[in-house]
Formats: sequence, structure tokens, C-alpha cells
Amino acid sequence: MRSMLIVALALLPVCAALADAPDTAASPRGIGAKDYVWNRMTPEQVEVLRKTGDAARGREAFRGCRGCHRSDGFGRVDGIYPKLTGQHAAVIIKQVTDIRAGVRINPKMEPFSSDHAVSPQEIADIAAFLAAETTIKENGKGPGDQVRVGEQIYTQRGCFKCHGRRGEGNEEKMYPAVAAQHYSYLLREMQLIKLEARGNSHPDMVTVLRDFSTADLEAVADYLSRMPDHRQARAPEGGK
Ligand code: HEC
Ligand code: HEC
Repeated sequence: MRSMLIVALALLPVCAALADAPDTAASPRGIGAKDYVWNRMTPEQVEVLRKTGDAARGREAFRGCRGCHRSDGFGRVDGIYPKLTGQHAAVIIKQVTDIRAGVRINPKMEPFSSDHAVSPQEIADIAAFLAAETTIKENGKGPGDQVRVGEQIYTQRGCFKCHGRRGEGNEEKMYPAVAAQHYSYLLREMQLIKLEARGNSHPDMVTVLRDFSTADLEAVADYLSRMPDHRQARAPEGGK
């Protein structure tokens, strides 16, 4: 009896930790599946990408998303909900439609982003709204003592080849902007990508991240979270 109690008590912190842990259930259709091809477009993805989004309508359609991502799409600084504002429209579309297709697993969001909740046109509208929303606020940042190390890793391991020197991503290639995203979200996503638990990952990225230690991931997340928002960083050069 007594030993059972000890076992139960010993398990308590584990259960608490699991409740906080990201959902690491791998998608049967995602990376790791034998026939996985990165960005094999579903018919819906093609359809949504072809539509012209309307930012004003998108603000309305975003109503069902505000509870988590906040009304301006800024998410939460603790990183539970990512910042969506400033993300490329094509990336927003890819992520939402990947989640709808079950390639990226996101059980919390699924009821709000399923085809019962938003139509293909509304996804295009929401993406236009988020890409146009220009409010820049203070994001959730890392401790700040690993920025140099993080920068070295980001450069030496070739992350910039896809995500850009300023973390600006690439709309055309559907590579997300990663600058000034919330620290804890960046860290969580890299852990999921490393474990092949984020189904829609680019295999070349998984290959690089596979041998990263937790300290490496923390350093990169510190660096990216402290980069200026890529839209701000663009202003002096482009003069806009
Ligand atoms: C119940 C909370 C919740 C609601 C409501 C919600 N989301 Fe999310 N969303 C999340 C969570 C949690 C994540 C991050 C999941 C992860 O860690 O991989 C996320 C991630 C995303 C991402 C991926 C961001 C990235 O950088 O890859 C997009 C895009 C997104 N949500 C769009 C939407 C849209 C559009 C709606 C409304 C139609 C919506 N969400 C409603 C919780 C929510
Ligand atoms: C071959 C191109 C490529 C390389 C190299 C690459 N990534 Fe990525 N990364 C992507 C793509 C594409 C996604 C989005 C996943 C998807 O939907 O396909 C992504 C997603 C991410 C995300 C999550 C962003 C979000 O909004 O959810 C982070 C963080 C990230 N990458 C960091 C890194 C780091 C750090 C490196 C270097 C170790 C790296 N990436 C190398 C293509 C790349």
C-alpha cells in the first residue's frame, strides 16, 4: 500500500509536465510517413492560394480565432499561441490548410479552423488581413544571454538560406518569417520539428535540427525572438 503511494507520488510531477508538453503525436500523413513529400499541395490549398483575399472581410472572419490569437493576431507573449500578424499570407494559408488536411496536428485549434468553421474564401481573407495588420508590439523574448551563440548557429547551420538573414522568410517559397516571434513558441516548434512531430516540416530542416542540443535550440530561439520584426527591419532600406 505504502509503496503504491510512493509510486503515485513519484508520477505526479511527470503528469504535470506532460499536461504542459506540446502535442508530440506524429501525423500519419506527415513527415515520417513513407510517401511524405514536403508541400504536396492538396486541392484545397491550390484553391485557397488562387483566391484574392479581402483584408476587411478577413478581420470579420478572424472573429473565431481571436480567443487564442487575440484580435490583432499577436498571440500571447508566453508563446502558447503564436503571433500571426506579419506572417506571409501564403504561409498562413499553408499552415491552416495543412492543419485541416491533418498533416500538421493541432487539436486545440482544429474545431475553430475546420471546414465547418471557416470556408476556403475566409482563409484567404484572414491571410490577407494578417499580412496587412501592421501593429508591432513587444513579443515574448528569450533571456538575452545567448543571442551571439544563436546567431552563430543560425548562420553556420544555414537556417538563413530559407528563413533569410533578417528572419524574414520567403512568401513565394512558403518559408515562414521567424524574426520577433514569441520565444517559447519558437522553442516548442523547433523541438517538435526535431522530433518529426510537426508533420509538415521540410526534411532538410529536420536533418539539420536533429543533432541540436536543447542549449542550441534555446540559443537560436533567443536570437530569433530578439531580432527586430522583419517588417520594421525593412523600413530603413526600402524607405517605406
Ligand atoms: C483554441 C485556440 C486556437 C484558436 C481558436 C485558433 N488557433 Fe491557431 N493556433 C493555436 C495553437 C495552440 C497554435 C500552435 C500550435 C503548435 O504549437 O504547433 C496555432 C497555430 C496557428 C497557425 C500556425 C502559425 C505558424 O507560425 O506556423 C496559424 C496560421 C493559425 N494558428 C491560424 C488560426 C486561424 C486562422 C484561426 C481561426 C480560424 C485560429 N488559428 C484559431 C490555437 C488556436
Ligand atoms: C530548406 C529550407 C529550410 C531550412 C534550411 C530551415 N527551415 Fe525552418 N522552416 C522551413 C519551412 C518550410 C517551415 C514551415 C513548415 C512548413 O509548413 O512546411 C519552417 C519552420 C520553422 C520554424 C517554425 C516557424 C513557425 O512560424 O511555426 C522555425 C522556428 C524554424 N523553421 C527554424 C529553423 C532553424 C533554426 C533552421 C536552421 C537550423 C531552419 N529552420 C532551417 C524551411 C526551412
